[in-house]
Amino acid sequence: MESHYLSTLFDHSMRIIYGNDIAVKAIQEENFHPWPDGATVVKAVWEQVENEYGELRPGKFQNVQFMVKDTKKFKDTEGWGFAKFSTETRIPTGKTASFAKESCISCHRQLAEKTGYLFNVPLKTNPLPLNHWNMKPVNMYILTSLFLFQISCIPEKTSEQFSRIVFDPAGLKVITSSVNRQLGTMSILYGNSQSYQQALTESTGHTAGEEYSFVTWKYEGNPLYDGSDINGELLCVEHITTQRSQAGKVTITYELKQGKPMPVKGKSLNKLERIHYIIEHRPAILP
Ligand code: HEC
Repeated sequence: MESHYLSTLFDHSMRIIYGNDIAVKAIQEENFHPWPDGATVVKAVWEQVENEYGELRPGKFQNVQFMVKDTKKFKDTEGWGFAKFSTETRIPTGKTASFAKESCISCHRQLAEKTGYLFNVPLKTNPLPLNHWNMKPVNMYILTSLFLFQISCIPEKTSEQFSRIVFDPAGLKVITSSVNRQLGTMSILYGNSQSYQQALTESTGHTAGEEYSFVTWKYEGNPLYDGSDINGELLCVEHITTQRSQAGKVTITYELKQGKPMPVKGKSLNKLERIHYIIEHRPAILP
């Protein structure tokens, strides 16, 4: 358990927070006083590794943590059930349920009361850009939170026209994430199962039917927790698919859905370089 708090401060770690559709709906409707029963939030934590582009990417897997809302079952812990499994062998925290009462909820209660005991609630950002990104709704949504070793001083936005937005990846799964400190951005690479399998191999060959979405946000300091940065405004959405041409060759299509791609190491990439940069990401390892 103790590694949880220390890791955020002393180990440079990266996190992805997953919410089920009940949690996402609650966020969109600001309905978290209290959160509805069935809301489930999962946080996966990795070490940070810097790559050749000067970006931080997930390295070694550290732990996965769960919060499940069930008012009747978890009366002692504000209705939230907690669980944590560490290292690749998934060692559980606590032999009895009392760990949740003694550690998990006591800290969450103290610092995150404003948001129904959850720290990672998406910030209020301008909803307009997302109107252009029009895909089917799905059940699984992803919120991200990535930790940096710096304290941000950007104030929380309060304007009425701003709302809490959860990016809808339209059925695609997270392949990996990255943070760019120079640009102040964080990105997630999403893919279908074929592109996920492809990303697992070190091969550069591709097959028809792969689909990737590369999504970049500005990051901002988490108003509930100094030292943590979470995604703010959406900056750019890029989409890549592979298909078989009539001649039987695999071709790759790149589409800029919105925004402007960020430079890589200070350089704007051309389309081909951009495709390579995106599809060469390797997946974050989950045991
Ligand atoms: C000392 C304080 C502290 C304790 C103890 C603690 N947490 Fe957290 N927890 C945090 C902070 C701060 C965050 C937000 C930062 C982050 O993303 O990790 C967080 C985030 C989470 C999240 C993601 C949802 C959210 O609130 O943003 C889950 C799930 C979670 N904790 C589970 C647990 C579990 C399970 C335990 C007990 C084994 C636990 N926590 C104990 C401080 C704590």
